[in-house]
Amino acid sequence: MNTLYYGDNLEILRKYIKDESVDLIYLDPPFKSNTDYNLLFKEPNGKPSQAQITAFEDTWHWTQETERTYQAIVESAPAKVIEMMQAFRNFVGLNDMMAYLTMMCIRLVELHRVLAPTGSIYLHCDPTASHYLKLVMDTIFGKKNFRNEILWHYRKWPSGQWQFQRNHDVILFFSKTDSKERVFNQVDLMERTASTLKRFGKHRIVSGHDDSGKRVPSAMLEEESLGVPLDDVWDIGRVPPIKQLFPTQKPEKLLSRIIRASSNENQVILDPFCGCGTAIVEAQKLRRQWLGIDITCLATNLIKGRLRDMFGMESGKDYLVECEPKDLTGARELAQSDRYQFQWWALSLIHAKPYAEKKKGADTGIDGYLYFSDEKGAYKTAIVQVKSGNVSVKDVRDLSHVVTREHAEMGVLLTLNTPTAAMKKEAAGMGFYESKHFRREYPKFQLITIDQLLGGAKPLTPPVFRIYRQAQQAESEQLDLAE
Ligand SMILES: C[S@@+](CC[C@H](N)C(=O)[O-])C[C@H]1O[C@@H](n2cnc3c(N)ncnc32)[C@H](O)[C@@H]1O
Repeated sequence: MNTLYYGDNLEILRKYIKDESVDLIYLDPPFKSNTDYNLLFKEPNGKPSQAQITAFEDTWHWTQETERTYQAIVESAPAKVIEMMQAFRNFVGLNDMMAYLTMMCIRLVELHRVLAPTGSIYLHCDPTASHYLKLVMDTIFGKKNFRNEILWHYRKWPSGQWQFQRNHDVILFFSKTDSKERVFNQVDLMERTASTLKRFGKHRIVSGHDDSGKRVPSAMLEEESLGVPLDDVWDIGRVPPIKQLFPTQKPEKLLSRIIRASSNENQVILDPFCGCGTAIVEAQKLRRQWLGIDITCLATNLIKGRLRDMFGMESGKDYLVECEPKDLTGARELAQSDRYQFQWWALSLIHAKPYAEKKKGADTGIDGYLYFSDEKGAYKTAIVQVKSGNVSVKDVRDLSHVVTREHAEMGVLLTLNTPTAAMKKEAAGMGFYESKHFRREYPKFQLITIDQLLGGAKPLTPPVFRIYRQAQQAESEQLDLAE
């Protein structure tokens, strides 16, 4: 069944994904850009907000942990991979690039294991490390299985650097074997631009077989034109940063092309660094099965929202979510291991948008928002706070002050521990928010425990906004100068 995993892909791959069980892998890992990628916030009216959370970091150093990973490669990887990594270690040295390559190498070995003999892998990277990664891929997947270096070309706002502007990413396409059975749907992906049709208009190019049925790389037949096969330079507009749900979000058109080229309906697509799930929603649209992995609940939350808003799919019912807490013990473990991940996971249970400032700025007392509309042209807010430790009546009063300060309509306090009687009394004393449109009263301050949420409880509000539907429309055209 389609599954979203929360956690480190190395552990998930080893624990859950069987040998040769995946037909197509697309991976878009951090590129070693020495940058922190921040999730920027917009209000429902599209206005940017000041708040941001560091979604993921892309800075690498040689640490004890990296040394351990390197040792694990030496102990268990195939001999030629060990030789390559030893050569890299001598040549590159124990620096940031070597740390990055070590992280990538151990995961690529696992990805090779899970890929079916007829399957393909597309590794998305950029010129910072693509030349090293090509050597790693050649060693793990075999030089003979290298199919293409795809250049994804896009445009950005011109920057006055004293060199040519960098406007492309690199996608390394390998197959697991060079078997004739491997999937490649070239005929589905013909280019039919006016200029191509003018130049090659009389021909239809059929890849695979000539008239006598003999297999050839390509044969030209005088037939109605379908265009020409795509080449390895793809001009596709980026998702403009202002419209991104997640930093580094890739365009759906790019993923659609990869999935259509190298898989058939019902085959299994894996994205082990899935971010806001572009590969997953495309796989869903194209009727493939999918597996997605990400190490942050910020990403898994966005994917859940996207699947809900685009396809009406609910987690646990229409697809599985693995490695997120399923009970109170799991919730306590997550809270202990990472307070922020716990917070973002808890917010996902009520479909709230996270707002915590993990790195930037002062504590605003706001962990998330629920946006709803019960009046034409206006949106209203419920402010959400998540508490993983002991709670007291002071927490109710503090959140109540934030609600007043922010001119919000309601406050929702999610707690891991059971609220005291004094807290319940204080919350009840805050009265009701009256929705004229729905002719209903909603408690102005709501206290809900994680246990109740896991049992299906939800805050009582007018229907909340569906914020992820826009992702579909967020694709830019080629010349997008919005950055
Ligand atoms: C470049 S983004 C992917 C963006 C994605 N292609 C999209 O369109 O939204 C890389 C993602 O990898 C995740 N990530 C980084 N290290 C990981 C790991 N070890 N296991 C799983 N996910 C990881 C990050 O949290 C981030 O969401």
